[in-house]
Amino acid sequence: MKRFIIKGPNKVIKGEVDVSGAKNSCLPLMAASILFKKNVILKNVPFVKDVLTMKDLLVSLGAKVDFSESKKIMTINNNKNHKLIVPYNAVSTMRAGVLTMGPLLGRYQKKKIKVALGGGCALGVRDTNWHLAGFKSLGANNFLDKGYVNISSKNGLIGSKYKFPKVTVTGTSNLIMASIFAKGKHYIKNISIEPEVIDLINFLNNSGAVIKFLGKRSIKIEGVKELVSGRHTIIGDRIEAFSYLCVGAITNGKIKINNINPNHLRSEIGTLKKVGYKIETKYNSIKLSSGIKLKPVNIKTGPFPNFATDNMPMILAVLTKILGKSQIEETIFSNRFMAAPELNRLGAKITIKKNKAIIIGQKKLISADCISSDLRTTFSIILGAIAANGSSTISRIYHGLRGYYNLEPKLRKIGIKIISKN
Ligand code: EPU
Repeated sequence: MKRFIIKGPNKVIKGEVDVSGAKNSCLPLMAASILFKKNVILKNVPFVKDVLTMKDLLVSLGAKVDFSESKKIMTINNNKNHKLIVPYNAVSTMRAGVLTMGPLLGRYQKKKIKVALGGGCALGVRDTNWHLAGFKSLGANNFLDKGYVNISSKNGLIGSKYKFPKVTVTGTSNLIMASIFAKGKHYIKNISIEPEVIDLINFLNNSGAVIKFLGKRSIKIEGVKELVSGRHTIIGDRIEAFSYLCVGAITNGKIKINNINPNHLRSEIGTLKKVGYKIETKYNSIKLSSGIKLKPVNIKTGPFPNFATDNMPMILAVLTKILGKSQIEETIFSNRFMAAPELNRLGAKITIKKNKAIIIGQKKLISADCISSDLRTTFSIILGAIAANGSSTISRIYHGLRGYYNLEPKLRKIGIKIISKN
């Protein structure tokens, strides 16, 4: 099992990072290919572990997938009928496996689809009750049998109305995909408007679907008979972009991030500016340089356009070095401060009370051996190790490789002293 060894404190970073396509766009787009009988061609694909797991899941259901990692292209053909079982290993190793539920139901409406119920994950309980309630609003019933949810609609899917009780990202994508071929019109309220969901809507509309916004978080989907062949270039990964901005921030350096729409990070950029970093944006890049006086800050995560929960572990690491008292309130997941005990092992002073973290900024962090427990925690600990005096080891970095493409080479290119060992 690979470990990273990082020698810090790293000198001031000066460099550029090209971010990859967004993992959380790519996964629903791949799942959406199930709705097409003709080829779907995706460009700017990030070949991270989760994308390869989703590829294997699609192949196990009956899809044909060709790809070129160097060209960042994937072609998916779903001409043949699928197996209608999503097995437990597909949803337990990668929660995004549930994204196949909506398109399978949308395509095979009256047939029975069996999807393993995913349990909790490192971030806390992760239910699919609102996905299922959304399907029910289209006329699809479900029952649980031996750990599998069985879903089908006796009379086919018929448009009606559904309002999500709270914003759910994959719940929104799943219900949109299920509704594409429903009879009539389906109205959905309180949807997620994360850039990755908008990317899915744009892709489907460009392929013949009819999805219209009626308000900021409300849409109307008019059922269509079929989708034409789909081609799409995946948007840049805003979480990866922010992660590398934080490398610049924690080293008081200068960093330029390419291939990213700054509008996807408005709240995060606002926070960095409040701390005192200088930020310049162009239509597809962001530059950060350090300010003279850096100040602590209070942050609350929330659905887009608020500060993304996925970006929280990285700002947590940055704030461990900003003198004074900062506070973070996490509103999406019940257990999202797993980086805190590891950062504390590096000398940070973070206390957690329920869904709040209080951070007392320190002048110095000191190297330690750390263990990662999820995707974004890996990057948070990397940031701590970059700032700490001495050599730190981070084990279980496979968590990080689920979502960061070329993590080690990208860090090394901007001057981080990083090696990996088995
Ligand atoms: N929830 C329910 N019932 C549901 C659906 C959600 O109770 O039916 C709860 C969840 O338990 C959670 C909250 O609602 O407390 C929000 O969860 P959401 O459904 O929005 O999360 P998700 O769709 O499962 C996606 C991303 C996550 C990201 C969250 C929040 C993908 C593939 N995953 O998950 O990404 O943290 O939205 O923005 O898009 C990551 O990339 O590191 C990652 C974890």
